[in-house]
Amino acid sequence: MESNAYPTTLPRMAKSLFVCQSCGAEHRKWMGQCTDCGEWNAVTEQVIEAAAVRSLGKAKALRASPITDISQSGNPRRSTHIEELDRVLGGGLVAGSAVLIGGDPGIGKSTLLLQAAAKLAADKKHGPVLYITGEESIQQVHLRGSRIDALHDDLLLISACELESMLATISEIKPSTVIIDSIQTTVSSKLSSAPGTVSQVRDCSAALIQHAKTHGHVVVLVGHVTKQGALAGPRVLEHMVDAVIYFEGDRGHAHRILRAVKNRFGPAGEIGVFEMSDRGLIGIRDASRLFLAERAKDTPGSVVLACMEGTRPLLVEVQALIAPTVYATPKRSAVGVDSGRVAMLTAVLERRIGLPLAQHDVYINIAGGARIAEPAADLAILLAMVSAYQEKAVPEDIAVFGEVGLTGEVRPVGQPESRAKEAANLGFSSILLPSENHERVQKANIIANMRRETAMPLKLLQARHLSEAAQQILK
Ligand code: TYD
Ligand code: MG
Repeated sequence: MESNAYPTTLPRMAKSLFVCQSCGAEHRKWMGQCTDCGEWNAVTEQVIEAAAVRSLGKAKALRASPITDISQSGNPRRSTHIEELDRVLGGGLVAGSAVLIGGDPGIGKSTLLLQAAAKLAADKKHGPVLYITGEESIQQVHLRGSRIDALHDDLLLISACELESMLATISEIKPSTVIIDSIQTTVSSKLSSAPGTVSQVRDCSAALIQHAKTHGHVVVLVGHVTKQGALAGPRVLEHMVDAVIYFEGDRGHAHRILRAVKNRFGPAGEIGVFEMSDRGLIGIRDASRLFLAERAKDTPGSVVLACMEGTRPLLVEVQALIAPTVYATPKRSAVGVDSGRVAMLTAVLERRIGLPLAQHDVYINIAGGARIAEPAADLAILLAMVSAYQEKAVPEDIAVFGEVGLTGEVRPVGQPESRAKEAANLGFSSILLPSENHERVQKANIIANMRRETAMPLKLLQARHLSEAAQQILK
């Protein structure tokens, strides 16, 4: 009777699971800090109901189709008629897709989506838009809508939190787009856990996304990001949706940046720039002008960088401040760029140019609250530091781009023509660029001051090494 030594049913033991509310990791026992994401006080107990045993049966083979035989029916994209939002989405919302919009509370997610919903509803090609609010009453949404001019007969509102009634409403109305504001307030009555917990957020999203895929409407989910982990961050959702968009910006500035971090139907890394006004969010096409608006001219420590955000060139001002230190270890501080990168570049300056920075604090700031992640910013950061140290201003009509390696060599970067073109468009007459990018930019024949009588080819200054770059613009 060997085979009867094991019980045929599992002992009724493991009935709880400890789930991190921040990252969704599952643990066997409770712990103060999640070992996966390092968040404190985020692990909570969840009771799991006995899973139904699925009968495997005999699975039927599926038919595979050649990729060339798959037909596309028309253009599945729906423009939101908000240019900056369309750009981030890669041209518009794709039918049957799910988009997640994350961001801090109060950043403007509801405002932007209400504006987009009204525009989509006004586009008669598609059908009604359903805006489901779980945080505000429909009167509040109406009030906001009338203030920002986002009212339309085909924009339908419901105030609901329960997933099952949402799905029933969606099936009845058959909207072209559904907006769920927010996923953290959505609860399924089939689950016992509280709203906003990982299991609620995951299961409700899965049901809404599945519904969208089968019925062909777009679903937009709003997700809050909190540091405490009291609400499930949208991190667990990122795998489930087709596009993830983050809304960034700080309260000190009126502008907001919308950034695609994942997009199955378009380029990731694309940004849209908005300004929060008393009539809602206004798209800003000419973002470079915004970031250069308060630029200090003829001041040491300021350099204009021509960087790329996705496919879009953007000019920003890099500022450096170098001051004798009062600390035992000098400070290296950066806002808007990675501070590790700044520490590395400081070391390059010390060793390759011989600037004695060991007794100096170094502060780097990207003016206007922009955030730059690309290495093409290296040269501008370094030149700003040299300019600040030597107290010599960089001529105001020069823009700069280029990556710098540890030996001080200036390396080529991608899309040099777009960067140079943006600089020329904004009235810069010269650009300092890596030697290896020179040929490509020269071929593009970029004209500076096109609209004025003094129109002439954009002057290209090239550099192979950091010292060569500094010599050319800091005389
Ligand atoms: P909201 O869209 O409610 O943010 P979220 O949904 O991301 O939490 O935005 C709220 C903020 O925006 C609030 O601080 C007020 C401001 N705001 C304006 O400045 N102008 C406007 O026209 C609107 C509607 C909001
Ligand atoms: Mg909101």
